[in-house]
Amino acid sequence: MTAMHCHFTGRNFISKSLSTFLPLLSIVQTQAMAVTIHNALPSLNALKSKSIIRNRPESRRVSANSVRCCQVATSDKQSITVSNGNDSLEICRVLNGMWQTSGGWGRIDRDDAVDAMLRYADAGLTTFDMADHYGPAEDLYGIFINRVRRERPPEFLDKVRGLTKWVPPPVKMTSSIVRESIDVSRRRMDVPCLDMLQFHWWDYSNPGYLDALNHLTDLKEEGKIKTVALTNFDTERLRIILENGIPVVSNQVQHSVVDMRPQQKMAELCQLTGVKLITYGTVMGGLLSEKFLDTNLSIPFAGPPLNTPSLQKYKRVQRPSIYY
Ligand SMILES: *[C@@H]1O[C@H](CO)[C@@H](O)[C@H](O)[C@H]1NC(C)=O
Ligand SMILES: *[C@@H]1O[C@H](CO)[C@@H](O)[C@H](O)[C@H]1NC(C)=O
Repeated sequence: MTAMHCHFTGRNFISKSLSTFLPLLSIVQTQAMAVTIHNALPSLNALKSKSIIRNRPESRRVSANSVRCCQVATSDKQSITVSNGNDSLEICRVLNGMWQTSGGWGRIDRDDAVDAMLRYADAGLTTFDMADHYGPAEDLYGIFINRVRRERPPEFLDKVRGLTKWVPPPVKMTSSIVRESIDVSRRRMDVPCLDMLQFHWWDYSNPGYLDALNHLTDLKEEGKIKTVALTNFDTERLRIILENGIPVVSNQVQHSVVDMRPQQKMAELCQLTGVKLITYGTVMGGLLSEKFLDTNLSIPFAGPPLNTPSLQKYKRVQRPSIYY
């Protein structure tokens, strides 16, 4: 089964379901300006086909508390510009996350996956979010973008965005290591310039992340990267990076109604500096869907199987009071 295409049911379904779904997303968007939905369509499917999650009393409580946050994600504003200084990139508010191509969700049929990417883009979901370590994600994008070049008009190509990540081991960040790694992604995605490179660093005691980001900024000035960004950086390090004059446009962090850690300090710094938060885990890989409403996750095997890496991951951060 191909995770990306198995729940896809066509253009009308997406536009209708998104209008159902976006109010729910906007609940969790305060400073968060864009969300990565790795399992968007399966979740939408659940929301649509079995009466809507917002109508459940449990969810109404959440909605009522959150009404003041609902100010974004209306249908006439489906994109947002992330920027810093002279760098900017217009992306969709809802991103197609491609973590699920990296194994653990079942076999990926390459052609089916690329067909599905085209259908997502045709439906207006034209921003794809990848990483160097998401299995074949960048290669799939390369095939996809070539089909867009051949099979769609140039103005369609202009709207497509491929965001990727680079998550190196914390070794010495020389110019050549950074350059070679970025070249790998450019080659796999078959683009002269990466729309966005989101950088992650595992070890803050090693200040090499600043070297890496300086080299990435050089590559941006050479035209090999359009925007430099971060993923899973903390507030303290984001501050240091900005103080060093590195023009990052965004930080991709986990954020949902269950996990609001970014609202403690990160959101304030972002508001001050204009750095945007791209959030992942917004619907917790599908845990925040009706399918799991009556499940006590503390009891092993009590509910639907937690049979994907994302369900396993988000189960570990869930706070049961939200569900019950
Ligand atoms: C933005 O571009 C202008 C004109 O090219 C340049 O003078 C200015 O220094 C740039 N600003 C930054 C922050 O790079
Ligand atoms: C869920 O299961 C745990 C472990 O059996 C139990 O302690 C807890 O009370 C249950 N929660 C609810 C809401 O039933």
